[in-house]
Amino acid sequence: MSTTPPPALIAPSILSADFARLAEEAARVEGHADWLHVDVMDNHFVPNLTLGLPVVEALLRVSPVPIDCHLMIDDPDRWAPSYAEAGAQSVTFHVEAASDPQALARTLRAAGARAGMALKPGTPWAPYEDLLPELDMVLVMTVEPGFGGQSFMADQLPKVRAVRESVRAAGGEVWVQVDGGVSVTTIEQCAEAGADVFVAGSAVYGAEDAAAAIGHLRALAAEHRHR
Ligand code: DX5
Ligand code: ZN
Repeated sequence: MSTTPPPALIAPSILSADFARLAEEAARVEGHADWLHVDVMDNHFVPNLTLGLPVVEALLRVSPVPIDCHLMIDDPDRWAPSYAEAGAQSVTFHVEAASDPQALARTLRAAGARAGMALKPGTPWAPYEDLLPELDMVLVMTVEPGFGGQSFMADQLPKVRAVRESVRAAGGEVWVQVDGGVSVTTIEQCAEAGADVFVAGSAVYGAEDAAAAIGHLRALAAEHRHR
């Protein structure tokens, strides 16, 4: 069974934005970005600390762009539902950190969010394939989570292909997201491998013209997608 692919979605990561001006930085990508990707880090699951629920709630009040929360935190079973309840359109937890991924994905959906599940570079897809019906998105990390501006790991592309193949076989509407080192030099490979949602931090917020950078990324992704 085949389904119509969604258009390529571009999700600038606020991690590379100016944290003293989050409202302006969200507005800077209005009308261009599909999602604003917000990296929540707790200094336990990853060796970095960014922001948490109060800041996400504040951003939700002002952001003209729907919010995609990427939770790099321990115990998402306990913490992730609040981000969905607060109004994030998509909430992604790391499967390595979750004690009951199935129950968590169901809770996120029940709270009105799209449920996403992330895989670190060292985490294989096959053991989690059965969770597909519970998910709206699978995030394949293309760097070790924790920091922006790292080099793209092309050795993760086979995993993107494997997830895409599972989605195709299941015939569902699950999106495949890539995050880490996505730029004009790497996005084509991601698109060819079957990604739908492209997170870009430094490639967008590090650019002088963020809107133009998004447009360039989107055009390259659209050109190289074939599903
Ligand atoms: C890294 C974060 C990414 C990060 C990507 O752990 O999950 O979202 O912001 O930044 P770039 O695009 O600069 O690699
Ligand atoms: Zn991220």
